[in-house]
Amino acid sequence: MKTQVGIIGAGPAGLMLSHLLHLEGIESVIFENRTREEIEGTIRAGVLEQGTVDLLNVTGVGERMMREGHLHHGIELQFNGIRHRVNMHELTEGKSIMVYPQHEVIKDLVAARLEAGAEIYFSVSDVSLHDVDSDSPKIRFKHDGGEQELTCDFIAGCDGFHGPSRKMIPESIREEKQQIYPFGWLGILAETPIANPELIYSNHDRGFALISTRTPEIQRHYIQVDPNDDINNWSDDRIWTELKARVETDGWKLPDGPIIQKNIVSMRSFVCEPMQYGRLFIAGDAAHIVPPTGAKGLNLAMSDVQVLKRGIVTFYETGSQDMLSRYSEIALRRIWKAQRFSWWMTTMLHRNFNHSSFERSIQLSELEYVTSSRAALTSLSENYIGLPLEWESPKSLLV
Ligand code: FAD
Ligand code: DHB
Repeated sequence: MKTQVGIIGAGPAGLMLSHLLHLEGIESVIFENRTREEIEGTIRAGVLEQGTVDLLNVTGVGERMMREGHLHHGIELQFNGIRHRVNMHELTEGKSIMVYPQHEVIKDLVAARLEAGAEIYFSVSDVSLHDVDSDSPKIRFKHDGGEQELTCDFIAGCDGFHGPSRKMIPESIREEKQQIYPFGWLGILAETPIANPELIYSNHDRGFALISTRTPEIQRHYIQVDPNDDINNWSDDRIWTELKARVETDGWKLPDGPIIQKNIVSMRSFVCEPMQYGRLFIAGDAAHIVPPTGAKGLNLAMSDVQVLKRGIVTFYETGSQDMLSRYSEIALRRIWKAQRFSWWMTTMLHRNFNHSSFERSIQLSELEYVTSSRAALTSLSENYIGLPLEWESPKSLLV
């Protein structure tokens, strides 16, 4: 079997890359070890940056998102029991975010790819990468019982944090930078009406809480818990009591109802440098992880593959690998800015029970500053809405 680009992983990164390449007339084959039903049913991210919304729209896969997604012009920050609205739309000259679940983006991309006749192998196993430092790298995999091999010009490792691709970059040149947080997120899906027109990020003495949404009937909320806590310790009653304690104000009550899904995830910041070895390029969670507080993970996956696409297209148009050899450098500039923002939001909003009373007061003072300074609010907003993709080095504004 042969193709131009072999893609491992049918998450947002792999599917969008395949879609973008197709629009440029470049062939790809995707290998995914889960079933189509599994990838289309896994509940994860919810917030799309303006740039991700634009990308889905200009590439023809945004129609359902525009119909069913919720456009938000701002968020609310809560601390000391008081809400502060951040008017991102105004602070970023008309930009906004879309609340549209990741698995719906996946459904839209899978449908578009299959409709265009793409080859997506679901439920593969034993995926392995070979000859990645040669001109004809190979992917071996098992499908329907038999072992098969694909030869391609490039491999895109879009296989998430635990996939095999990143480990193919030799340890001698691979540097992994990471930070683990003493926080976990207990996430729920609940059958209740929409709680609030915009997302609420709440810093509370008992821990962080986040009020989000999915559909008019189903809502998504999170509370900070110990990352090693067991979900079985959390009855529905206990979850609602804790959420309410952390987000309710004198005049605002949180609607409750049946919880239809709950789980706990731990939080880390992680970056692998470089994101290339030979003809292997890694993208999305395969290369980096952010704590979810800044809502950046899915969006970074989308920006990585736009950079990668440009390098691959340049190669097929001109034969030059110059752009591809800059993939890592260009993508990492945006990744580190998103890392910084995600780390900052996480540190500012979570309750670190190891902190001294001095550090706690500094944290609350930072929230007071951020919510009272137009400069700070603008900085928060431009990061949350999504920084631009800079192909060249960012230009200094210093005079
Ligand atoms: P993935 O989505 O992980 O896709 C990788 C794919 O590769 C998977 O389908 C996997 O099955 C497949 N794979 C793995 N190993 C193999 C193998 N050996 N062979 C074949 N296939 C393989 N991000 C946001 O932007 N906004 C948010 O609001 C947000 N909230 C989040 C909330 C939570 C609770 C969590 C857990 C994450 C959140 N994220 C959010 C992060 C976001 O979900 C991820 O960053 C995003 O899924 C990354 O996409 P990806 O394509 O790189 O990786
Ligand atoms: C959601 C997830 C996030 O990480 C976030 O910052 C905001 C919203 C969500 O799943 O809705």
